[in-house]
Amino acid sequence: MFPEIEFDRMKRLPNYVFAEINDIKLKARQEGEDIIDFSMGNPDGDTPKFIVDKLIEVVQRPKVYGYSASKGIDKLRLAIADWYKRKYGVELDSNLEAVATIGSKAGYVNLIEAITNTGDIAIVPNPTYPIHSYAIILAGGSVCNVELPFNEQYEVDEDGFLKSLKRAIKECTPKAKYIVINFPHNPSCATVTPDFYKELVALAKKERFYIISDIAYADLTYDGYRTPSILEVEGAKDVAVETFTLSKSYNMAGWRVGFVVGNPRLVGALQKIKSWLDYGMFTPIQVAATVALNYGDDEVLKIRDKYEYRRDILVESFRNAGWEMEKPKATMFIWAKIPKIAQKLGSLEFSKRLLTEAKVAVSPGIGFGEFGENYVRIALIENENRIRQAARNIKKFLKELEN
Ligand SMILES: Cc1ncc(COP(=O)(O)O)c(C=O)c1O
Repeated sequence: MFPEIEFDRMKRLPNYVFAEINDIKLKARQEGEDIIDFSMGNPDGDTPKFIVDKLIEVVQRPKVYGYSASKGIDKLRLAIADWYKRKYGVELDSNLEAVATIGSKAGYVNLIEAITNTGDIAIVPNPTYPIHSYAIILAGGSVCNVELPFNEQYEVDEDGFLKSLKRAIKECTPKAKYIVINFPHNPSCATVTPDFYKELVALAKKERFYIISDIAYADLTYDGYRTPSILEVEGAKDVAVETFTLSKSYNMAGWRVGFVVGNPRLVGALQKIKSWLDYGMFTPIQVAATVALNYGDDEVLKIRDKYEYRRDILVESFRNAGWEMEKPKATMFIWAKIPKIAQKLGSLEFSKRLLTEAKVAVSPGIGFGEFGENYVRIALIENENRIRQAARNIKKFLKELEN
């Protein structure tokens, strides 16, 4: 209506690559096609019953309908501190070093808004969960991309990665203010060892930058792998915060519950900006989330087991269909190289053809950044029968590509 009135901030957001795949998927579904959908990291399972029951109980109590506590009710922040103590042996001051957020994505975006000055630089490994970069760009900062190196077993080449980070810190002007890391990693499933965090914390102290660590997939680990927390490193709280979400571990993606803990200066900044922006999650959700963190460990194991089972079926059946891929040690994804025969298509075209010809939706790697181009991300959100059906469709599709 008023074309000359510009929204500059919107121009900083590119068209979402995934939107192209989504449009094709929706159109195919409208035409009655059955699309087997591995494209989003949206858990398909139900929230454990005891958590839902708690929500139902609390929602019927009086005095729970008003604005809640923006930084999270005391009991939830105490449960967050207990979770860290139990899981990682890390002590947190639940008032000064923990903040509950309306999902970890919004918590992350708010944190970036709070700490980024116009023109600041932040380092983000590439490929990346897109908001990890775009929150910085929206906030007026710039991103210095560093390629994330990892091997066939999805293990980060920690020495190589640290070298690249050191180089980026030397070369970026102005000097990077913070770095965003996320292990186990979305989309690449890459994992690190505790030693990596020791080195990174030492580097952050030497070079004076903050670290934001996202451990959304901390609980979804297999074959004996255990997700380390950066806060396990002595003195990490001087430079680091960590974010977590209940979306994946507890099948609570729609509930919007996450948290940020660690460095009191960053947590304080987030608490402050949130106190301006929101009134916190609905109190019954906060109470149910408290119960989830306090009593949910066994249910988390069951949720993890389901992903492990699907991972095994998917990798084996897709390999039998002619698509070579390895089993990751963590996350709810497979980060698979495009099959050799289709490599020249690139990740977007390959994903489109997989969708239209094999009726299988995946996320093209390029949507996660330039270093994702040779890959697609497959989310383990379909059941066994549908995984096997997808494998049959893919086998036929790859055969047809050969001819
Ligand atoms: C690495 C990572 N962090 C954060 C999130 C978002 O979690 P939440 O549902 O708490 O916003 C996701 C969701 O896919 C993710 O992959």
